[in-house]
Amino acid sequence: MMEECCYFNKDSLLIKPPKKYPLVLWMAALALVMISGVYICILYLKQKWVPTMPNPIMLRLKEPKPCPDPGIPQSEVPYVHYPEPTTYSRNECACTPVWFFAILSMQRSGSGWFETLLNSHVNVSSNGEIFSVKERRSNISSILQTLDEVYNLDWYSSASKNECTAAVGFKWMLNQGVIHHHDEIVKYFNQRGVSAIFLFRRNLLRRMVSVLANMHDRGAKQLNGTHKAHVHSRDEADVLARYKPTINVNSLVPELKQMDKWGADALDYFKSTRHILLYYEDLVNNRKKVKDVLKFLRLPKRKLSSRHVKIHRRPLSDQVENWDAVYDTLKGTEYESFLHADYQMQQETIS
Ligand SMILES: *[C@@H]1O[C@H](CO)[C@@H](O)[C@H](O)[C@H]1NC(C)=O
Ligand SMILES: *[C@@H]1O[C@H](CO)[C@@H](O)[C@H](O)[C@H]1NC(C)=O
Ligand SMILES: *[C@@H]1O[C@H](CO)[C@@H](O)[C@H](O)[C@H]1NC(C)=O
Repeated sequence: MMEECCYFNKDSLLIKPPKKYPLVLWMAALALVMISGVYICILYLKQKWVPTMPNPIMLRLKEPKPCPDPGIPQSEVPYVHYPEPTTYSRNECACTPVWFFAILSMQRSGSGWFETLLNSHVNVSSNGEIFSVKERRSNISSILQTLDEVYNLDWYSSASKNECTAAVGFKWMLNQGVIHHHDEIVKYFNQRGVSAIFLFRRNLLRRMVSVLANMHDRGAKQLNGTHKAHVHSRDEADVLARYKPTINVNSLVPELKQMDKWGADALDYFKSTRHILLYYEDLVNNRKKVKDVLKFLRLPKRKLSSRHVKIHRRPLSDQVENWDAVYDTLKGTEYESFLHADYQMQQETIS
């Protein structure tokens, strides 16, 4: 017994057992260790097979879209996003799908009014005319980087609604790089699922009056020494509307043609994108048109409002210094209708 004990001890490299324990007990202890080892091993394997409660942080890392909404039609999936901003967490709205949009327009076409209207919706973040800053549109990489920031919900502006935004975008004038870089921008819109909202003005002569009056105020600063492109009161509107521009009739028709062409070209370039075409006059005259926009962006219905007050509310003939010459120039041309088309004015609209 002594022999066996010592032989075993030497080979197994175990700590030499105290002599008072017999070999049998020692073996039993060893067996117990082995059995529990196998048991732990089985438990471990079992754990691997049984699905466990996922760690939410791990899930976020693994799944680019943690909240696929089964209610979204297949055709709309490319336009539905779950951004993960780097600057904050979307918290309880992390699973609220976000639509990307851009309002493509021209200066003095009602886009300022339209954007404030959209931003009165609790789930819309339309970040203003971000490409009015030249460096942001100086080359295509700078444009795309800016777009990425906006659509990742990392762009901060007074319009940002942060975590519960369901539609994010901005307004973009056609002459702020849209036409110039249209190929790359269309590609980006299609790849990232950005919807385009075209906002044009039917009466381009009214638009021209507004452009000239706005240019005049830039220098004249008629409101207590400050220039305002949009106003929030009747009094301010009346001050700005007092100025009657003189239109250069020699370049009038070519200029109207040019404006027309810009709009037509833009629509043609962007025809492959998901888009909607709106006219300012239609939005003003028919509130149902505004509902169409909410539907287009799959937003919950809301009553929208804007504090903008229309500047030029009178008939065009009262607002152009050389009306007779303008009248004679456009009479008989394809733009003759601009002379007559006056639409019903509503309170909270701009010129
Ligand atoms: C693009 O424009 C930005 C901002 O003006 C500038 O910093 C950057 O170097 C330009 N990149 C290229 C590739 O020209
Ligand atoms: C809209 O915003 C509200 C308030 O932040 C939020 O409770 C709601 O879930 C949002 N709805 C959508 C569709 O994002
Ligand atoms: C100019 O300022 C005065 C006082 O600050 C104010 O009462 C008035 O309404 C302002 N006028 C305009 C046209 O903004």
